[in-house]
Amino acid sequence: MDIRAMVLLGAPGAGKGTVAEALKAATGYGHLSTGDLLRDAIRGRTPIGVQAAAFMKRGELVPDPLILALVTEYFDRAGNGRGYMLDGFPRTLAQATRLDDQLNSRRARLEVVFLLEVSEAVIVDRLTGRRLCRNCGANFHIRNIPPKVAGRCDHCGGELYQRPDDQADTIRKRLEVYRRQTADLIAYYADRQLLQRIDSDRPRDETVADILRRLRVLDPQVGARS
Ligand code: AP5
Repeated sequence: MDIRAMVLLGAPGAGKGTVAEALKAATGYGHLSTGDLLRDAIRGRTPIGVQAAAFMKRGELVPDPLILALVTEYFDRAGNGRGYMLDGFPRTLAQATRLDDQLNSRRARLEVVFLLEVSEAVIVDRLTGRRLCRNCGANFHIRNIPPKVAGRCDHCGGELYQRPDDQADTIRKRLEVYRRQTADLIAYYADRQLLQRIDSDRPRDETVADILRRLRVLDPQVGARS
């Protein structure tokens, strides 16, 4: 069994997507973001997208059966890569159990869960300032990681927009949902000796370098790719 999986766990805005983007090339792992899959499904007006949209707009979790259908489809499509980087999944204990089943059936194993930690004040600042490219999905922050030209993507020149769930009221709701429904996973993975806490209240490159150092201990090939 040499297919590895890692989970990026953390509150909304903790930096999961930013870190995942930076780790992709260095690890060669496939990036599964359930948030991105859901937004694609909404844009494509698929049956799952249509059902998920209202939950996301309210800042609530999308029900497990919809998420598990999306994730199963992802794993079938992605096949057995070198490894998996899971961002925003799992978010409930039922999802965590299902992840184990998916990995076992692919002869893959969960090596580590990185818990990105940052204060709520920083989270609110990060999410209200986040801007995304409508064309390629690149992620910016109006002050912390600003685009070279305001409102335009550095990579493709696409228009930058604000996610509808990045409004102050919905952010508060998402944080409450995280504390109520997802924080249980911290104890779950700590009990399994898989949890590593990461200070995510640092410049992006420092956080990424810290995670890469820890990953190399578990998977020496990670260094060879950066
Ligand atoms: P999802 O898209 O997963 O959103 P989230 O978990 O709320 O996380 P975010 O994407 O908001 O934050 P992030 O941690 O990735 O931070 P980012 O790197 O962008 O889910 C959205 C919704 O979909 C959920 O509310 C739910 O409804 C549904 N959903 C998704 N998965 C589900 C599941 N498994 N089950 C049920 N429902 C599900 O960073 C944020 C900002 O900060 C950016 O602007 C970035 O540029 C900036 N930044 C990042 N790092 C730094 C740094 N070190 N310094 C300064 N700025 C930084």
